[in-house]
Amino acid sequence: MTDRYALPLRALHWIVAVLALCLILAGFALKFDIVPDALHHPVAFIHISAGLTVLLLVLVRLGLRFAYKAPALPESFTPQQRRATAVGQGLIYVLLIAMPVFGVIFIEAHGHAVSWFGLPLLPAFMAEDKPLAHLFANFHLWGGIALVVLIAGHLGALVWHKRQGVTLLPRMWG
Ligand code: HEM
Ligand code: HEM
Repeated sequence: MTDRYALPLRALHWIVAVLALCLILAGFALKFDIVPDALHHPVAFIHISAGLTVLLLVLVRLGLRFAYKAPALPESFTPQQRRATAVGQGLIYVLLIAMPVFGVIFIEAHGHAVSWFGLPLLPAFMAEDKPLAHLFANFHLWGGIALVVLIAGHLGALVWHKRQGVTLLPRMWG
């Protein structure tokens, strides 16, 4: 078995990784009013459209992941390390799908339609429901924080394995 992810999986990993990091930065900048007022609307517009794009790309990636399979982990990995890898990576996938869904419900519960780069995607299908909007805004916030922790763990694990003499980066790069 090859020890590298298939090219489409590698390409999608990096596209989704860059988009997710930009979404997290832009999201917190919106939340904490770091974005100047004049830019708030365009940044939110791009955040929403790019977030929906991530949902699409992650679903494509998951489909391809079943078609291509991941390369086997190095034999030196203990059963606990295999489980931690599967749980950590699985949770990242779950959150990359949940975050756009939370975002959509949050916008709909404000009584707004959802568009994707200006194209109508979903009509406003519910009346304004402030408690629901607040709940899903909180899910989106805590999901974002959990994603930051998981990505830090992801990078920390790569560095830790490297220090143990197991370099994983070429499996996803090149
Ligand atoms: C993988 C995709 C996404 C990620 C990683 C992400 C991440 C974040 C983060 C970390 C924040 C700041 C914390 C918060 O207020 O929740 C945020 C804010 C926000 N997100 Fe997302 N988001 C994604 C997709 C979406 C989508 C698809 C929508 C809408 C359909 C959306 C709507 C918003 C809005 C409106 C805010 C600003 C909240 C405020 O100003 O208080 N997000 N996002
Ligand atoms: C610069 C930062 C990053 C580096 C160097 C990196 C590197 C890697 C490497 C080497 C792997 C393969 C691990 C293995 O051999 O099993 C991997 C897998 C993965 N990475 Fe990253 N990554 C980065 C950022 C991200 C970000 C930001 C996300 C999510 C938003 C992410 C999500 C994932 C997921 C879900 C997998 C599992 C792939 C699968 O088996 O389907 N990565 N990453």
